[in-house]
Amino acid sequence: MQEKIKEIKEEIENLVVNSLDEIEEFRLKYLSKKGLIASLFADFRNVPNEEKKAVGQALNVLKTSAIDKVNELKDSFSHSDIQKSGMDLTLPADAAKVGTRHPLSLVKNEIIEIFTRLGFTVSEGPEIDDDWHNFSALNFPEEHPARDMQDTFFIEKDPDVILHTHTSNIQIHDMEEMELPIRCITPGRVFRNEAISARAHCIFHQIEALYIDENVSFADLKQTLTYFAKELFGQDSEIRLRPSYFPFTEPSAEMDVSCSLCKGKGCNVCKGTGWLEILGCGMVDPNVMELNKIDSKKYTGFALGMGIERITMLKYGIKDLRLFFENDIRFLEQFSTAL
Ligand code: DAH
Repeated sequence: MQEKIKEIKEEIENLVVNSLDEIEEFRLKYLSKKGLIASLFADFRNVPNEEKKAVGQALNVLKTSAIDKVNELKDSFSHSDIQKSGMDLTLPADAAKVGTRHPLSLVKNEIIEIFTRLGFTVSEGPEIDDDWHNFSALNFPEEHPARDMQDTFFIEKDPDVILHTHTSNIQIHDMEEMELPIRCITPGRVFRNEAISARAHCIFHQIEALYIDENVSFADLKQTLTYFAKELFGQDSEIRLRPSYFPFTEPSAEMDVSCSLCKGKGCNVCKGTGWLEILGCGMVDPNVMELNKIDSKKYTGFALGMGIERITMLKYGIKDLRLFFENDIRFLEQFSTAL
């Protein structure tokens, strides 16, 4: 037995291989379950007792050296493969490119955060909807000229199916589905049949807020808007409300914020007025409440809606709206990497 062990040991030591396949052959021959070393271990029980200690030790040394040899051969092969390929492992790695958030997402998230601090929850609704949710339930009577304020994409096969023209349709879904009081904010992508230019696009983004409870007043709306404007545009910002018209609010208003570039003095961004128009708002029209089975004697509410593109353009001084949709990396990577 000792003789055999010595013989195999020498064989292993002198072994030369030319490929990874040959290493595997070697491993199978000596180290597999049916290999030579395993069979020596099987014969071990026939070794006379007085030799057991020495033979046992020799067998273990043999096995370890066979394992070491396999590893050593494998190592030398992988290194020489790399050397042959001309790869230089000392070169620094290419930096992985980290993406940036889209500016519209940055501003959307900031707006959501501000409203979340006031207790608003985020809700979502469908982009493809019906006439009822987009118009009728918002108090746009059929044939009413107010429908022309928004150039609508209809589906040819069924004119009742439309791409929502504003996020206000989701107010209706919220009134149908949520329990009162409702205090939610709804970001969404909206669609209007408009020619694409530096100032208009057929796809854009809005955020809507809706608050319905007992005793909600116009003062609550004004205070919410003031807080929102100061958080988004800076603590020295001021707001003003101008009377306006929307079918689903009464009274309705448009909100301007003082121009943060010229601090209200007048510049070319605010066209010399010192004010920038930001959003539409108002008290939810009692008709809308009743159309959606909410008791307008008991409850009142306010709603507001704003375009995210416009606010992003003002915040970052972007002059052409089309940049948001072109996915030009040179434009996109200028914005914060904070996710
Ligand atoms: N839906 C309006 C639009 O797209 C914006 C708007 C105005 C939303 C007043 C409101 C609101 O919730 O109260 O022009």
